Amino acid sequence: MYKKYVHGLDTLVPIEGGRRVTYINFDNAATTPPLKAVMKRINSFSHFYSSVHRGTGYKSIISSLAYDNSRDIVLDFLGADKKHYTAIFVKNTTEAINKLSYRLKDEIGDGIVLSTYMEHHSNDLPWRYKYRLDYIEVDERGRLSLDHLEYLLKKYRGRVKLVTVTGASNVTGYINPIHKIAKICHKYGSKIMVDGAQLVPHHPVNLKAVDHPEHIDYIAFSAHKMYAPFGIGVLIGPRSTFEKGFSEFVGGGTVDVVTPREVTWAPPPEKEEAGTPNLFGVVALVESIRVLKKLGIEPISNYERKLTKYTLERLKEVPNIVIYDDEDIKNKVSIISFNIRGLHHGLVAAALSMEGGIGIRSGCFCAQPYIQKLLKINVEEMDKYKRNRDIPRPGTVRISYGMYNSFDEINVLIELLKQIGNNIDYYNYKYKSLLST
Ligand code: ALA
Repeated sequence: MYKKYVHGLDTLVPIEGGRRVTYINFDNAATTPPLKAVMKRINSFSHFYSSVHRGTGYKSIISSLAYDNSRDIVLDFLGADKKHYTAIFVKNTTEAINKLSYRLKDEIGDGIVLSTYMEHHSNDLPWRYKYRLDYIEVDERGRLSLDHLEYLLKKYRGRVKLVTVTGASNVTGYINPIHKIAKICHKYGSKIMVDGAQLVPHHPVNLKAVDHPEHIDYIAFSAHKMYAPFGIGVLIGPRSTFEKGFSEFVGGGTVDVVTPREVTWAPPPEKEEAGTPNLFGVVALVESIRVLKKLGIEPISNYERKLTKYTLERLKEVPNIVIYDDEDIKNKVSIISFNIRGLHHGLVAAALSMEGGIGIRSGCFCAQPYIQKLLKINVEEMDKYKRNRDIPRPGTVRISYGMYNSFDEINVLIELLKQIGNNIDYYNYKYKSLLST
């Protein structure tokens, strides 16, 4: 439906037997292709590309203005009050969360951070080793347990300083009720950080007024998952967080006065962005926001939901399929995880690529604890993988849609999956070399 807006969708790729087919990209949770408008804008802006905050020439002035003005556009996109919040440009969501984990050291101190068992490693590992960390449980279906969140907040009696939670899972697509969670967190004196990597590109997000009990304190997201893959990510949080102390990276652009004896830091957000900024990244993101706003995140979200619903229905036709989904379509983004009983996820992925030109991802998706929960693998069982790196790892097959994917593409996927599900021994035999060492 939105195909005409996206770049590179006609690419032919080779498949088994020497044929070429049009590539089907069902791996948008990993990264999305660029918008045509983004490519055009990068090209046109390149005539003015120059040094940001570091030159006096005409092009530098244009470049600095484009960079500076972009912050308000990003804040507006998420309904963030400019008087309270600041938008810091980083490489991606991972860098944003790592930055925040460093910058909250004084605020959290020996307090407690709560993460969850459904996080991408990027919203788990940065909090380990720095803080006392505990995890909110997921239920049988893999949904976050708000009862357990409240239990932990009560148990730690005001010592939880931050609850850090994904907006939408990169494995199941489950959307967390971030405003409901925010209200619970604030009631117990904790702040909330949302990993928005999978949510922001697919679902309307509004941080809400800062005096609203449901407001979001911090959010991070990546442009490469929203059709602007030029190496930029965003961390949004209260300006006051970044007024104290200084960044984990320091250098050019972060200072006001430097003498051999002391440093006066620049105000946020500049003090957080050491080195020459990624102007093309920002230009691409702003263009992507412009197009997404024009098309409307809500209609995009509705369309992607229809693709998901159709897929979940048709997947039932696939023999031996196990779907990790509770079919609560309203509360998920367009990501589906499944397995074919008797066939390693890596072989399904290989067959889809080699026989259908379909790009998906399989494995643990940098969310190993969540995959262990979904597949009901206990911690002890994981030991064998530590001892032997050559054992094929557990995981699932994941399909994830973007706004440009079509029902016809899904039909191609289903027919191939049916063939695979009907011929498990054959596919095990055919691709077994891919699993041997
Ligand atoms: N976080 C990305 C994914 O889920 C890379 O695939």
